Amino acid sequence: MEVFIAPGYEQISRIAARIVADVLNAKPNAVLGLATGSTPLGLYKELIRMHRDEGLDFAQVTTFNLDEYVGLAPTNTQSYHYFMRENFFEHINIATDHIYIPSGTTSNYHAFCPWYERRIEECGGIDIQILGIGSDGHIAFNEPGSSLRSRTRLKTLAKQTIEDNSRFFEQPEDVPVYAITMGVGTILESRSILLLANGENKASAVAQMVEGPVTSMIPASALQLHPAADVILDDAAASQLKMRDYYEWVQQNKPSAPRS
Ligand code: GLP
Repeated sequence: MEVFIAPGYEQISRIAARIVADVLNAKPNAVLGLATGSTPLGLYKELIRMHRDEGLDFAQVTTFNLDEYVGLAPTNTQSYHYFMRENFFEHINIATDHIYIPSGTTSNYHAFCPWYERRIEECGGIDIQILGIGSDGHIAFNEPGSSLRSRTRLKTLAKQTIEDNSRFFEQPEDVPVYAITMGVGTILESRSILLLANGENKASAVAQMVEGPVTSMIPASALQLHPAADVILDDAAASQLKMRDYYEWVQQNKPSAPRS
């Protein structure tokens, strides 16, 4: 796991966008793993700008989203389908049949989940997976206690997650209790991983992910087992790291380290 720290949200978004653009420039038909939530919004904005101003091309790209709330149709404004369309897909030249997002409305989860896993494999596997982190250390909707080898499945959300995500809904009772999510094992199979975090409320989860033991109680700590996971943090999200000096030293001295 490599940790990079930049002053603020704009900088981490720009660093992440440059890393994704490098992947696309090297492999125009790359498979991207995408995340929702407020964290990757700046990254999507910057990728849209690169598409508009610099010709970053998504024509051959395939995407797989991490998760979706159960019970929300793609037209529901709180669904992750809607979020992705509004904040990213509508603004780039991606082919609609190259977009995969778990279904929130399938009547057959038992068939859907293995199908989703198979599609990822058939498309060649995920080249770069974008992740945020929940304040309880979750990735996608893999809540504390999730098996570190879990696959795409139906998951009951933790109360903390429902509370955190209620800010997007009119009232807390509107937040769905279930989601379909890629598993931790699915995520770990990506060729590379890019986790972004910003803000003070992520600092404790970030410190446990990076410097704590690998444990299913902090699902993001499983990234320690991945050979190519980059963690990009703003100042506030990095504030509880004990080895911060070392990460900054590496960042200054490593020629390939991303810079803001
Ligand atoms: C949700 C998503 C996660 C995301 C997390 C953090 O629970 N399923 O993929 O990382 O929220 O969200 P935010 O970026 O809004 O803090």
